[in-house]
Amino acid sequence: MIDIHSHILPCVDDGSKSFDMSYNILSSCVAEGVSAIVCTPHQNSKVQNADALRGRFEEFKQRAENFPVKLYLGAEIYYFDGVVQALNEGRLLTLNDTRYVLVEFSTRNEMVYIPDAVYSLSVAGYKPIVAHAERYASYLDKSGYAEIKENGGLIQVNAPSFQIRERLKTIKYLLKRGMVDFIASDCHNDTSRGVDFSVAKNFVKRRHSRMYERFFGSYYDDFLNN
Ligand SMILES: [Fe+2]
Repeated sequence: MIDIHSHILPCVDDGSKSFDMSYNILSSCVAEGVSAIVCTPHQNSKVQNADALRGRFEEFKQRAENFPVKLYLGAEIYYFDGVVQALNEGRLLTLNDTRYVLVEFSTRNEMVYIPDAVYSLSVAGYKPIVAHAERYASYLDKSGYAEIKENGGLIQVNAPSFQIRERLKTIKYLLKRGMVDFIASDCHNDTSRGVDFSVAKNFVKRRHSRMYERFFGSYYDDFLNN
């Protein structure tokens, strides 16, 4: 399986704090059956460090070459006005230089109507993936989630959210309607926010077995190579 949301790239954001920590995370990934990881450090209106991230990524890839995991570079972009221009100018990163963009929003306040943001990325030719979509339910209602999909957005949910009642409620709603595209770790370290897909896997196996292969199998293995 591919993990498309991971703060495993060392010493670039609030994620992994060292190469050693990143190796620990990689080991967990291997144990969990992850065969490909997109490194998605935070970028936002102030942090547009594409070149620096590319440099760190190349170094990490070389030093981690003994792990049986394919590594890609991307970013988790906090949406702001002007994100399309910054993407067009190469200051922000898409996933493996494709048109897929992992984009996040405030989890507390409605700074922007998410379906509108998704629309503006879609019409600019990008394929937005809404990061940890279950975390916006405090201000985004059900029709808002439907609108994300109508506007060309894909939906990613976090594996650890399967263990948090309120977030699981939103995930259940989305899963039932076939609206979830990706389940990712959003891991930040090798302890409290590590890689653990076990609860999510059990849930999907029990309640949505037909989708299991899609989330945890080889379904997406090539989607970043096209
Ligand atoms: Fe994240």
